[in-house]
Formats: sequence, C-alpha cells, structure tokens
Amino acid sequence: MTMAEYKLEVTTGDMTHAGTFDHIFVTLIGTGGKSERTELDNYGMDFKPGMTSKYTVKTSSSLEKLLLVKVEKDPFLFLPEDEWFCSKIVVTTPEGEAILFPCYRWISRGELVELRGGKATKVFEDDHPLLTDHRKNELMLKKTLYQWENSDKKLPHKSHFKDVSELPSEVCFSLSKTMEVLYTKNVMGAELMFKGMLGSTESWEKIEDMENIFWSKKTQMSEYVSEHWKEDDFYGSQFLNGVNPNMIKRCSELPPNFPVTEEMVKPFLAEGTSLQKEMEKGNIFLCDYKVLDGLPTKVYDGESLHVTPGFIMFYLNPENKLMPIAIQLYQQPSEQNPIFLPSDPETDWLLAKMFIKNADLLQHQAVYHFTNSHGLAGVFTVATLRCFPVFHPLYKLLIPHFRYTLQINTMGQKSIYGPDGILSKTSAGLQGNIELAEKAHSELTYSSLCLPENITARGLESIPNFYYRDDGLKLWDIIYSFVKAVVEYYYPSDSEVLKDTELQDWISEIFTHGFLGNKTSGFPSEFHTVEEVIKFITMIIFTVTGQHAAVNNGQFDYYSWIPNGTLLLRKPPPTTKGQSSMKTILETLPNVGETVKFVAMGWTLTNKYTDVVPLGSYPDERFDEPAPKQMMKEFQAELSNLSEEITTRNYQLVVPYTYLNPPVIENSITI
Ligand code: FE2
Repeated sequence: MTMAEYKLEVTTGDMTHAGTFDHIFVTLIGTGGKSERTELDNYGMDFKPGMTSKYTVKTSSSLEKLLLVKVEKDPFLFLPEDEWFCSKIVVTTPEGEAILFPCYRWISRGELVELRGGKATKVFEDDHPLLTDHRKNELMLKKTLYQWENSDKKLPHKSHFKDVSELPSEVCFSLSKTMEVLYTKNVMGAELMFKGMLGSTESWEKIEDMENIFWSKKTQMSEYVSEHWKEDDFYGSQFLNGVNPNMIKRCSELPPNFPVTEEMVKPFLAEGTSLQKEMEKGNIFLCDYKVLDGLPTKVYDGESLHVTPGFIMFYLNPENKLMPIAIQLYQQPSEQNPIFLPSDPETDWLLAKMFIKNADLLQHQAVYHFTNSHGLAGVFTVATLRCFPVFHPLYKLLIPHFRYTLQINTMGQKSIYGPDGILSKTSAGLQGNIELAEKAHSELTYSSLCLPENITARGLESIPNFYYRDDGLKLWDIIYSFVKAVVEYYYPSDSEVLKDTELQDWISEIFTHGFLGNKTSGFPSEFHTVEEVIKFITMIIFTVTGQHAAVNNGQFDYYSWIPNGTLLLRKPPPTTKGQSSMKTILETLPNVGETVKFVAMGWTLTNKYTDVVPLGSYPDERFDEPAPKQMMKEFQAELSNLSEEITTRNYQLVVPYTYLNPPVIENSITI
C-alpha cells in the first residue's frame, strides 16, 4: 500500500479575534474513502488573524476525487467559547491538483462544518451521493437557520430575527464596526448634551442659531446647503441630484386637480412662450405626492400634524435651471388650498417649499430608502441564504452584496420601525409611515427598479444636468455586463435555468415574500431564460449598491441643515397668502431638541466606517475557477474608468454629484 499526502493551507480571517486557541481537526472525504480525523497542529503557531498555515494529512492511499473537507473544533482546556473565523482551506492532492475550499464563516464548538471545494455547482450537476446528501443537508440547515417572519403588514417580509443577539455570527458586523457604531453615538450624545440642546423643547430663535449644532462634523456640501437653501434654482436641482431623485416626472399634460393657469406662471417663463408651449417642448416637470393623501399623522401637543400630498411644478428655463414655479399643497383645489407662486410673500413661498420638501422626505425615507432599498435587500438576502447552498454559483456571486444587511435591518426594527424609532418622530408618525410604505409597495413595479426603464417611463432621458441619471445608467450597464458574463458562464442556455430548481425556488420566495405575490407588478415568479436571470440579478446588485448609495449617502449633506428639509413640521401649512412671517417658519420647524435628533440621525446614517468594502471588491475568494475571477477584474476596471469620468466631471461643477462614484459606493447595504 502506498501512502498519500495531502498538503493543506489554512487561512484565518484577518479581523480582530478571528483566531482561536482551540483544537482544529479535519477529515478529508473523497470518492475513494476518507482520511483519519487529523488535528492541525504546528506547535503554537496556529490560527492567528490573517495567518495562512501549512499542514499535511496522510492517508494510506489516494482518496481519489476529493469532495469535502470536514472541519471540527474542540475546546482547549476548559476555556470559554473561542470562535474561529476560517477564511479558506486550499488542499493540494497527491495528484498535484490544488482545490479551493472557501469557508468565510465563524466556526464555534460542536458545529458541523463540511466544506465543498472546487467548481461552483448547480443542483443537477452533483454526481456523487455524498455530494447530493451534503447539498440536501446544507439547504435543510439553512432553511431552519433563516426563516421568514410572520407578518400581516403589506411590506417586504423580514427575517424572523427580532434582535441582533439572535443572528448567526456568519451574518454579523465585525467587532470593529460594532465598536465604531457605539463610539459615534457616544461622541454625538456628549457634544449635544454639552450644549444643552438634547431634549430642549424651545423653538429656534433665529435660523442662524442652527449653525452651531455640531462643531466637529460638517461637510462641504452641508455648509453649501446652509448658505443656499432659500434659492429656487438650488431647491429645484435637489429633485434631480439630491437624495431623492425618484419623484420628478416630465409633465406633458396638466393634472385636472392642479389647475395652474397661464396667467399664474407667465412671469416665471421666458418671454414670448407659454405654459402650454413649454409643456409641448418638454420643459415642464412635476412631482405629485398623492400617495401621502389620507394617511394618519402624528399627534403632537394634542393636535394631529399635517402631511401635505401636494404638487410642485418645475420649469426648465433657457439657462438649463430647474425652477419651481407653482405649488399646491393638497390634492383637491379649493380656496383654502391655493396655488403658491414664487411671487408670493417670501415666507409664504418658503413655507410652501418646506411642506413639499417634508412630503418628499417622508416618501424618500419610508418608500425609497427603507422599503425599496433596505426592505428589498433584506428579502434578497434571506432568500439567498435559504435557497442556495454556499457552493452555488449565484450564491458566490450575490452573497458579497448582502454583507451586514441582515444585521443593519434587524437593528432597524427598533431604530426605524420601533415605537420610539425614527419614523415615529416624523409628521406622519409610525402608523402613517407604515401605511405610506404599504400603499407605495402595492404599486411598486419591476420596471421602476430597473433604472433604464425607470428613466424612460418618467420622460427624463434628456433633461440636462441630471447626474444621478448619467452616472446611474453607466453604472447599471457596467453591473449588467459583469452579471451577464458570470451568469452566461454558468448557464450557457435556457435549459440550465429551467433545470435549476434552487434558482426557481429562490425567485419564487422573492416573489412571495418581497413582492407579496403581486402579479400586476411585473416581477417574475419563475425564470424561463438566461436573459431574465441576468436582468433580475443586475437589478438586485444595482439596488443594494448604487441605488442605496444615491438615496442614503447624501442625507447628512442635504438634511443636516433642517430648514432645507425636515421629516417633522409642527404647524399646519398656510391656507391663505400674506399671513406668515419668519416667526411662523421658526414655530413650524422642529424645536431645538428635535432638530438635533434629526441631525444626529443623518450623521449615523451616513457616517463612514473603516470596515467598508467598495463596489466590485471581492476580498473573499469564493470562486475556484479562473473565469469568474477574470470577470471581476474586468468589472473593477470598468468601475475605475467610470470613477475617473465622474471625478473629472465633478471638478467642473459648483455642486458636485458624488454619490454614484464607484469608490464611495459600498458593495452591500451596511448602514
Ligand atoms: Fe441606508
């Protein structure tokens, strides 16, 4: 009998505490038998963070085709649990083949961990009973570990985890990120306490007093906003390049319940033209906040607050500036619901713009940020964890884009949706926000999540200076090309798509738990073609990277200056003209304590942590095949070209658009 030697290279994660003192044992399993359970022991030099150690496992003969590596951890003496983050094991067989066994997870005592190596496989490609069994067991385990919540809300379903302490460690923040989140909260609390602002129910005496809320945290953009917030052209530009570029549409026909007349807007149009002509030319745009109509609102000092489901009309003037020219705050025109114009008394026009901004922020947060990006990302994450084994090609492709998402969303169940969370502090109150999100979700369509179709449907293909569109469409195309390359490599024809029961199970879970089985939404419930898979995965990666960055990362820039936009307004909107003053504005804006809470929220939601993976970086080596690794390199090169283009463009802009610059987009939603 000839002895055979297997050379192992075992890599421990490089994060703090990734290492372990415990005993690690491996068993190699092949088609021709298995090795002894062998301890990996190099005399004290084992399993330190970031370290790769070499070991040899001897067998009496070759195991033939190597299928699995079983990893076990036993306590060292009687010390408490000492989890180990194993990144990967590379095994070189006696025949000279090096096989990658990706792990990238924490391993605790008594856990059954069997790693599958080599090529990514789909369910119909497993050719050995050991592999079929392994696949079945893994999926069974995952479906037990990750479950859907039972919810009667008409929103994307969440995982069943109620608290971050219940989360399996493979989906948790690294320790360093946890510490930084705590640190930010403490620093902010201390600063504000010191100034006696937190909890203060006083109104602001002067708008300028708000400049002193933070002395250590400002951005160039937040300062710019505090200087220019009253200007109409800057106000207009935010509907294209602010944090909510999702509402504005070209207006070719006036809605019957927004009766703007030629006479009203004539002074704001170029000479010799008319509203009708400008609509025909495509220079009139509109936001309609009708989804906010009829929502319950927050009760504040014994009174129900006011949320305004209004309209705002914009004119793209000959200098290519998008100017607001008419505002109506409610859906039904009436004497108490006048159309406000830029020529009205200054504070009337300012108040009208503030109420529209409040409506815009509510829809931005509840719908575009929390539901369409965080909520859907949660659905994609849970479905991926449940339906694909870790060695499925689409799991390998997608899982880096879900890093930390379950944790941030689980935290959000209290900090956002809790009785004391962010939404409860807004004009709509918690219930109003939930109803708003439910209403919007029932109308959500697949095409609205696919940027090229979204832009066309809104008639925004040619409006100038729309950087969200310019950068977003290029980003969409780059993601599409990458996804196409990977998906076509693993699914050379439609028949592979049809045969992949795991893939079909995955899209069916997403359809049921994400889109609540709504057939009119256009979301697929099954896949028939490779092209359908490519488009859907492009949508997912775009949503959890670029789209989330666009609606998340500018929140401090634009809304730390509360007069520019706030989720809470304390007084009713004006119903007649000529009655308001600066005092009305100060009484309408949040009080001092509320203001600092909103500013602190903006800080936490946009703070840059050190533990960040930028879009297109794949630090974990999950693919063993050279082809997808090459595709990732091409993806990175394309992203870097786009970044150069954006940076050059931004040099020429007074207000640069930075949120879709690839290096500042995260690879997943972590915040
Ligand atoms: Fe976010």
